[in-house]
Amino acid sequence: MDQPQTAPTGGPAMSAAEPIRGQDSMHPDGQYSRLAKVFHWTTVPLLFLAIATGLTIRFMKDDAKMGFYALHESAGLLILFLSLARLTWRGFATPPLLPDHIPPTMRFAANLVHHLLYAALIIQPLLGFFTTNAYGFPLQGETAFLGFIDFPKFMNGNETLATILHWMHSLVGWSLPFLLAAHIGGAIHHHALRRDGTLMRML
Ligand code: HEM
Ligand code: HEM
Repeated sequence: MDQPQTAPTGGPAMSAAEPIRGQDSMHPDGQYSRLAKVFHWTTVPLLFLAIATGLTIRFMKDDAKMGFYALHESAGLLILFLSLARLTWRGFATPPLLPDHIPPTMRFAANLVHHLLYAALIIQPLLGFFTTNAYGFPLQGETAFLGFIDFPKFMNGNETLATILHWMHSLVGWSLPFLLAAHIGGAIHHHALRRDGTLMRML
């Protein structure tokens, strides 16, 4: 993942409604590509769905539980496939340069959070997938991917492995709301306080 570098345009005084302009020849309006935006905003509801269902599955009565698993696992795997496609696309359409009025610490923090988010978007569904398989519940029948695509059985049940993977899946799952709070808080800070047009790069 290349770090967006600086570009000598814009300033904190710029109106929040105005996109940052003149970044470089590939991004004349300083915006992420249309497809990058589609990937970003499609992932948002899926991720909230995956987190909400993940945290609430345990409280569901048995008759509703399978539906929740199906929803959770399908949303999670969709996130995985979307994120793999998104990162591939990012290799071709690099992000717009960050304007040079963004201080180095802020630039560093934003990039760190972006890297951690990308890592979580890939690792978390894989952990979930291997957890269910290790518990002996491949995505078949009631929990088929998207309700109708049966995945082959990946491994034999292994209780110890399942417990470790489940623990790791919980750890990443509980870290995600904090990462997202930092990311969304950062976006709101740029938009509402610094008014530097950063949010418009992704809209
Ligand atoms: C980005 C995608 C995903 C996110 C954000 C996510 C998030 C979560 C969260 C927050 C929990 C609750 C953890 C806890 O309270 O201990 C959970 C549980 C779980 N997840 Fe995921 N998950 C994702 C993908 C998947 C996938 C793809 C699968 C399987 C194919 C999966 C299978 C499970 C299972 C089996 C549980 C345990 C549920 C229970 O019985 O309490 N997850 N997930
Ligand atoms: C909830 C799930 C979200 C995830 C997983 C997520 C993830 C990401 C990632 C990985 C990037 C880096 C893109 C790249 O450089 O390739 C990014 C950029 C961005 N996100 Fe999000 N995001 C989420 C929600 C939001 C929300 C709700 C907002 C707005 C309030 C937002 C605003 C932005 C903005 C403005 C950028 C561009 C930052 C820049 O110009 O460098 N994101 N997001």
